[in-house]
Amino acid sequence: SVDTNALAAQLERLGLDKIERYPNCFPETNPVDVYRSHITTLMHEVTGVDTALIYPAIQWTQSLDKGDAILAVPALRIKGKKPNELAAEWIAKFPESPLIEKPTSAGPFLSFFFKPTGLTNFLIPIIRKRGEEFGKNPHNGLKDPNDPNSGKKKMIVEFSSPNIAKPFHAGHLRSTIIGGFLSKLYDGAGWDVTRINYLGDWGKQYGLLALAWVKWGEEEALQADPINHLFNLYVRINQDLTAEKETIDEKKKAGEDVTELLANCLDEQARQYFRRMTDGEPEAVALWRRFRDLSIVRYKQTYARLNIEFDVYSGESQVPEPDMENSAKVLLEKGVSEDSDGAVLIDFSKHVAGKAGKSLEKAVIRKRDGTALYLTRDISELLNRNSQYKFDHMIYVVASAQDLHLKQLFKTVELMGHDDIAKKCQHINFGLVLGMSTRKGTVKFLDDILRDVADTMHDTMKQNETKYAQIEDPAAVADILGISSVMVQDMSGKRINNYKFNMEAMTSFEGDTGPYLQYAHARLCSIQRKVGLTDEDLDSADLSLLTERHAVDLIRFLAQWPDVVQNTLKTLEPTTVLTYLFKMSHAVSSSYDQLRIVGSEKELQKARMALYDSARTVLSNGMKLLGLSPVKRM
Ligand code: ARG
Repeated sequence: SVDTNALAAQLERLGLDKIERYPNCFPETNPVDVYRSHITTLMHEVTGVDTALIYPAIQWTQSLDKGDAILAVPALRIKGKKPNELAAEWIAKFPESPLIEKPTSAGPFLSFFFKPTGLTNFLIPIIRKRGEEFGKNPHNGLKDPNDPNSGKKKMIVEFSSPNIAKPFHAGHLRSTIIGGFLSKLYDGAGWDVTRINYLGDWGKQYGLLALAWVKWGEEEALQADPINHLFNLYVRINQDLTAEKETIDEKKKAGEDVTELLANCLDEQARQYFRRMTDGEPEAVALWRRFRDLSIVRYKQTYARLNIEFDVYSGESQVPEPDMENSAKVLLEKGVSEDSDGAVLIDFSKHVAGKAGKSLEKAVIRKRDGTALYLTRDISELLNRNSQYKFDHMIYVVASAQDLHLKQLFKTVELMGHDDIAKKCQHINFGLVLGMSTRKGTVKFLDDILRDVADTMHDTMKQNETKYAQIEDPAAVADILGISSVMVQDMSGKRINNYKFNMEAMTSFEGDTGPYLQYAHARLCSIQRKVGLTDEDLDSADLSLLTERHAVDLIRFLAQWPDVVQNTLKTLEPTTVLTYLFKMSHAVSSSYDQLRIVGSEKELQKARMALYDSARTVLSNGMKLLGLSPVKRM
């Protein structure tokens, strides 16, 4: 195949005619795998250990001073000698290699350093050739990663999932950012990804919303800004609802007969309206559908700003009543659920022993009036997704506040006899955002935050008049920078950590922020514009001129990128990518003084520009993976 021919040509540059292939060795997409394969061959000669044990034991390093690859000696499972003794023996026997230096030992580890010239000549052309694809590995998502014809595995990522007529709060924002990232990660890893938005769009509260619409709804306001108008209606009717409840409570206390009041109260009207919706009465359904459709149109616009597109807008409303009745039957037959005062509940402590069972608590799945609940809908939705998509894996990106809910969900499905399905499901959780407010007060909607952060960035941009004058559409750039600020702050820590929403910190150019990353990218673009070399110039560069320590270290950083992505598939943490991008960008920015372009002679210019251009490619690929839009000027 073309890939294989290209690889042969690339290997020739390293002075190799071929390399051994091992499971999960993908030299076409990950240049470091070539080195790992080579090290495996040599280590096998030296130790006699089975290559199947050696190859996977060769790991990447987190910092360059530890080498470009390390091997934990105990991983080769040789008994009777201490790791450092073995290491010393092997180092003494280690043959000369065109690719790597003799290993060094550090405690129980062997460190391998790649020879700089070979790496440079090998890596930069690969990055130039693979471009946007560099870092992706389409094999990961194959049914059999080592068989290209085995077909893609199916991944469902459910994320964002806001509630219509209610605020799009920090939890939804984080779910959107993390879910968007995970979808891109798996997509790049060759999975067939379906992105589902599971809207909160069903329940008595939507009956209440309909009542509010009848009372105060304005067609024009709905058309102009459905999300805000519906929210305002919802707030207003909830105030009335609360007031009414108080009145009724007081009367009750005073011993008055409230039967009549209860029969006509808003709560009861809402219940009846919702009943009309569940019964499929055309008028009720049509109104609800309009609210839903108009809201989705708006959501889509906001998601587009974040580079996110959903394949499916599902939602609580989409779970068919008969399916829920079916599930209820199974649960009852299997003795999982039980009657409790006319309601149906699951007492998990009866099905799961010990602490684990207790910690799952009890969950109601049918109220006394027969209505289904959040969990009931999730159960049937999950089973339906399984038959509809035949997924291999499904991720729910939901706040850790719902840890219990998702545990109950997965356990219930398991207790229904679908252990296999439950095993394919995973909850990706995350902590809280504290104090999310902007200059204009506490926020309720994502659009408000994004607008406010963009305004802040716009003010900053205006401070540099000359640069500002060169930007074609400053408002659009400010918007992108604002979004980058919010997203990078969100992805900086581990997902599970809470963080404080800090407008000043996130929009700063100092420190590891979104604007810093954007600036690093824009600066690389600006050098490229100034030097004006063509692609042919860069392709014909003499890369062996890149000998300075700064150049070599930067190349070593760039070589790590595909491994960083592989590692991210294990951690599923955006911060794994972000940490790398910051380290790499710092390496770039400390190179500028050392590896000058302006004033250097042409051949050196070409080689250095090829290096900077590769750094830009990797930075841009990483930013896009996180869902950021790299800017060319700012
Ligand atoms: N709409 C829910 C909320 O805002 C989140 C939905 C999470 N997904 C699920 N399958 N339950 O809290």
